[in-house]
Formats: sequence, structure tokens, C-alpha cells
Amino acid sequence: MLRAPADAITILPAARASGAVRVPGDKSISHRYALLAAIADGESRLNGYSPGADCASTLACLRALGVSIRQSSPGSYAIHGRGLRGLVAPTAALDAGNSGTTMRLLSGLLAAHPFRSIIGGDASLQRRPMGRVVQPLTRMGARIEAVDGRPPLTIDGADLHGIVLEPAVPSAQVKSAVLLAGLHATGVTRVVERAPTRDHTERALEAFGVRVERDGPSVQLAGGQRLAARHLGVPGDISGAMFWAVLAAGTPEAVIEIEGVGLNPSRIAALEILRRAGAHVTTSVDEDLAGEPAGRMRVAFGTSRSFSIAPHEVPGVIDEIPALAALAVMMPEGRTLTVHGATELRVKESDRISALALGFRALGGAVDELEDGFTIHARPLNGGTANAAHDHRLAMAFAIAATRATGPSTITGGSSVDVSYPGFFDVLAALRK
Ligand code: S3P
Repeated sequence: MLRAPADAITILPAARASGAVRVPGDKSISHRYALLAAIADGESRLNGYSPGADCASTLACLRALGVSIRQSSPGSYAIHGRGLRGLVAPTAALDAGNSGTTMRLLSGLLAAHPFRSIIGGDASLQRRPMGRVVQPLTRMGARIEAVDGRPPLTIDGADLHGIVLEPAVPSAQVKSAVLLAGLHATGVTRVVERAPTRDHTERALEAFGVRVERDGPSVQLAGGQRLAARHLGVPGDISGAMFWAVLAAGTPEAVIEIEGVGLNPSRIAALEILRRAGAHVTTSVDEDLAGEPAGRMRVAFGTSRSFSIAPHEVPGVIDEIPALAALAVMMPEGRTLTVHGATELRVKESDRISALALGFRALGGAVDELEDGFTIHARPLNGGTANAAHDHRLAMAFAIAATRATGPSTITGGSSVDVSYPGFFDVLAALRK
């Protein structure tokens, strides 16, 4: 791999891939631990915190809200909680950067704080829909203005009351924003999900001592519960690990092991899809990190099979679809992947359906873009220049697929991997043979 100027990275073909790797701390869990530590009583210590720019945005926003945060070594932070409703008014607009999770979850906290705050973000975040959090938080009593349903958000926090919410779109971010607001509300706040989404907020709240009642699709909590500071370790990010899993699944004879990775049942659906596509996948849970299971994952190449992702499966693999698409592109000619029911991908860090189709086509792949998904027809890749569209997951997906091309490829916008996985290209260089 050669680093080229102007944020482009060159990926050379790789005949083999193998090795063992640890991945950075989970992005979703890191955000939640930082936010909850900030409103807990006392000093929390976090280890293995995600080194990505998204989770740094959360810390920067919390500092601007008066939270004292000290870093003792990479990934280790001491966060001095300000207690329930203890955040202080920021002196300037808060910057969530590229991070939808920061903006949406923080808006749940700020809805309950009696001051005005403004949260903005980068060009990608400014295009993302916020009505999904503005509406329920407004129902709870906050005043929030968005610009045509998009950032920046201007939040005038207030005394909130509990609601029952059935989110129209399956979204862990919406569920989490409402539960965080509910913690500060009178009465009970309940979210009933039509499709399950990652449950890190529920587990994190319990880790900080909050009583959360879960019953099938319903989760509820009573407002006014105080959080106790904790010492917590963040497991490795399974969504980042998925790129190595796909590198192994798509490279003949490859075996890759990932250690210390989060294996929360609400995050592992993509492993089942890898198996369906022919890969050999084994996992073992070795530890329980404050309610989050973590362990090892081993992925070995197996005979590739065509596969599909059905609409009901999409919420469980929403962040892994770019990696799974890379696997389809790497497969022998004649294999296909069809994805339906994934319109939500159009409002992620990029329009992931069209940017993914453009990028894989640029490498020589055959991709039909559909309104709610795409179909990939595997065929030999010759390599080319794929634009990551400032989207970390697309940069990683294109880089993995490019290892199967017959010629070199260039990924433009490669530095976007820093959003969740700084050092990604160095790990790729070490695993490819
Ligand atoms: C996240 C939830 C998902 C996911 C995002 C992180 C979270 O978004 O795509 O990368 O940490 O809650 P939605 O639940 O809004 O789809």
C-alpha cells in the first residue's frame, strides 16, 4: 500500500490474508459510556474508549458542557460526572462533527437541561434527518428547532414528562435519545420497537445503576434515577472487525482471528450472513464487560455462495452492509448479493446505496442500484479509483474489495476511516500477504 497525496490511498492486489488482530473500542458503546459518565455522580474511568473522531466529538461536546475529562493514556479517560441535570450552558455551538450518534443522543440529554444549546456538524451530518428525535423530544416537553428537519438543532431544554414511543424507523439512536431524556422526565418513558436495534443503551444504563425494565420489544425506565460512577472497559468494535472477517471470507485459504471483540447478541447478525455466504465463522465469549459480552472471532474462507439480505434483517446489520457488499464483489463470477428494505442507508454518513454502487463499479464490479437496496453480480475486478464519499465504512469496504482486483486501486477520501478506525490501512497492510 502506498500513501498518495490528497487523501488518496493505493491498494495493491493480495493473494493471501491471515493473522490475528485486535480492533479499536466499540464506537456505539464508547459514546454511551461517555454520556452516562458525564451525568453520573462521581468519577468514572473508561478504558478501551474508541480512538475514532466520532467518539472524540462526544468528548469535546461534553467538555463544552462543563464536564471535566482527563486522558491518562490512549483510550483511557477519567470523566467527572456532573450528576443528573448538572450540565452547564455551553458558550458556543456544539460540534458533533460527522457523528449522528453524538447529535442524536446528546439532544436527548440537552432536552432536559434548562438552557439553550445548538448542535451542529460537518457537511455530511447537516444532511441527515433529525425529525426522528425532534418529534419525540418535543412530545416530552422540550422545544427543538431544526432546519427542514436537519441540523443544526437549537434546543431549549425544559421539564420533561414521560411518553410511550413507537419509533417509525427502527433506530437505536432514537430509542437512546428518548431513554436519556426519560431519565430526566417525570413518570415512566417507554419505547416499543417494531424491529429490535442494538441494546447498548439499555445495558449501559444498567451498568451505571439505572433500573431498566425490558419486556420483548418494550423497554422502559422511571425518570429521576441517579447514576453511580463506574470503571468500565469498552470491547472491540464488531463493525470494524467485520472488515477483517470479510477479508478472510473473500480471500481463498485465508484465516483471520479477532480478539477482544464485542459479541453483544444485538450486533452479531452479520456473522450469520457471512456463514450463509459460505464462510466458516466461530466465536467464543470469554468475558462479560459490565454486561457487554466480548471474546474471540475466527473467520476462514469457505466455498462462496450467493446470498441476500431481507428487509427484516436490515436493522440488525445496518452498519455491516458495506462490508457484506465488499464480500459479494470479491466472490467468484456468477455469485450475487441482493439487498432490499435498506432505504435507511441513503441517510447514513453518505447515501450509502448510490455511493456504494458507484465505488464498486469504479473498481470493476457490477452493481444495480435499487430504490431500497442493490444487487451485486460478482465478476473479476480490475481495480480503479473509488471515491469513499467521506464515508468511513465505504472507504474500508472499497479497500477490502480492492485486494481481490487484478490491478492496483486508489481509494479517494481514505482518511475518513479515522471516524471509527484510525490505523485501518496499517492493519490491512499487516494482514495481507
Ligand atoms: C448507532 C446506531 C445505528 C448505526 C450507527 C450507530 C448507535 O444508527 O447506524 O452507526 O450507536 O446507536 P440507527 O440506529 O439510527 O440506525
